[in-house]
Amino acid sequence: MANVTIFGAGYVGVPTGAHFARTHQVTIYDPDTNKVENINKVIDNNADSLHIHEKGLIELLQENHENITATTDIKQALENPEIIFIAVGTPPNEKGRANLKYVCSAAEQIAKNIKNDCVVLNKSTVPPGTAYLVQEIINNNLKSDVKIAVGSCPEFLAEGTAVEDLRTPDRIVYGCDDKDAIEQITEFFLFLHGRSTLAPMTTLSAEVTKYAANALLATKISFMNSLAILCDAVGANIREVQEGVGKDTRVGRKFLNASMGYGGSCFPKDTSAIAEYGQLFNSPLEIIESTILVNNKTTDYFSKKISEAFGGDLVGKNFIIWGIGFKARTDDLRESKPVQVARELMDQGAYVHIYDTVRGALENFENENPSYKGKYSIYHEQYEMVNGNIDGLIIGNEHEKFRNPDVNKLDSMRGKHIFDGKNILNNYLIKSLKSKGFNYKSVGKDTVANPVNKTRLIDFLKHEYMD
Ligand code: UDX
Repeated sequence: MANVTIFGAGYVGVPTGAHFARTHQVTIYDPDTNKVENINKVIDNNADSLHIHEKGLIELLQENHENITATTDIKQALENPEIIFIAVGTPPNEKGRANLKYVCSAAEQIAKNIKNDCVVLNKSTVPPGTAYLVQEIINNNLKSDVKIAVGSCPEFLAEGTAVEDLRTPDRIVYGCDDKDAIEQITEFFLFLHGRSTLAPMTTLSAEVTKYAANALLATKISFMNSLAILCDAVGANIREVQEGVGKDTRVGRKFLNASMGYGGSCFPKDTSAIAEYGQLFNSPLEIIESTILVNNKTTDYFSKKISEAFGGDLVGKNFIIWGIGFKARTDDLRESKPVQVARELMDQGAYVHIYDTVRGALENFENENPSYKGKYSIYHEQYEMVNGNIDGLIIGNEHEKFRNPDVNKLDSMRGKHIFDGKNILNNYLIKSLKSKGFNYKSVGKDTVANPVNKTRLIDFLKHEYMD
């Protein structure tokens, strides 16, 4: 069992701390009194909600209550840690660059208060080289004669599944240029995971790996999205293409789902950050740059389908959006595609009724969109607003509740339009919707509802492919 301190009680810090507390002694440090008091109440079984929405997190904190505490007291946080994880925010600035001020301030506080040798690992997503900067800040501010080795241990958890991702990771990446520190970190993780999951490396490699992993996943999605647009144009079905391509184990089935684009706090931010970093080092990352372009283009493509279904005039039209979070089961609206689509519709004069299974997502929408007040309503029961005033339904994220809608209830809508932004409705359902006169639009599988125009294709080939 090791003593661990985590800086930052956010989306990464709290689940990570709760997970480490299975076998280690954990202190979470954050200057925010509300957050810290709330975490301690949850740990002591005196509260049942947290400032972050993460399945199984409250139970995990309570299960490991003997091994975990949260504090605003920096001295207590740095009493005797063997490993410190920095998990503070790195919000992008106006240029899209990760803002390192919180990481640097954590480094300074560590240096000024630490009284024992230890390893400092950065979990926040940062431009490669940041661990060296942290090491320099620490060395310049140390008040005691101790040895601090700084490295990187990037996080790969996804929002909504953080607890499960932490429990069963595919890999744990950590990097440090100090051999003793690497051994110490390896020992630490062996208390929690098998050796085969561990990927020790140099500091810089670990920092690059974080961006590389997220950018590659985002690229898989954009790759399929650009093909989805082609599928719509010729009449193929992207879901079938995904299956065919994804069954090759070299490719893998995951993250091939075409959609109106990826959102969230990681893919958009990290792809922009590493693309810009590549430019700054005169090593442009053209594929990642295209990934970003395709992502934006796909959202426009989807929004345009909605407006085209109404002849380009959305004034006075009423829509329902199911799912406003950037994915299912989150209150996080950062770079959320359904939010972007909702704004686009409202900008064009439409009114939107928004539903999400997570109440916090709806509250966040209200808080973050004051200028749209009066152009939308939020509601709390999936079918509450499905009635004769509605012109179209938009599926915003992948929640199971949206996969199998009640066709009879939808039939009461005056406009028979379904826009499936995540391609989640199955063929059987689409056909039954079609039989009731519904117009089904997706990103790359409209052909399920609309027959392929074979004559057009044949004419095209005759015209373009015969010399
Ligand atoms: C992601 C990574 O999965 C995680 O490893 C990393 O640490 C942080 O970034 P997260 O942003 O929480 O996690 O969500 P994720 O489930 O990956 O989804 C991101 C976006 O991509 C969502 O908008 C989702 O709807 C979209 N997506 C995902 C697709 O459009 N198609 C897919 O096949 C998969």
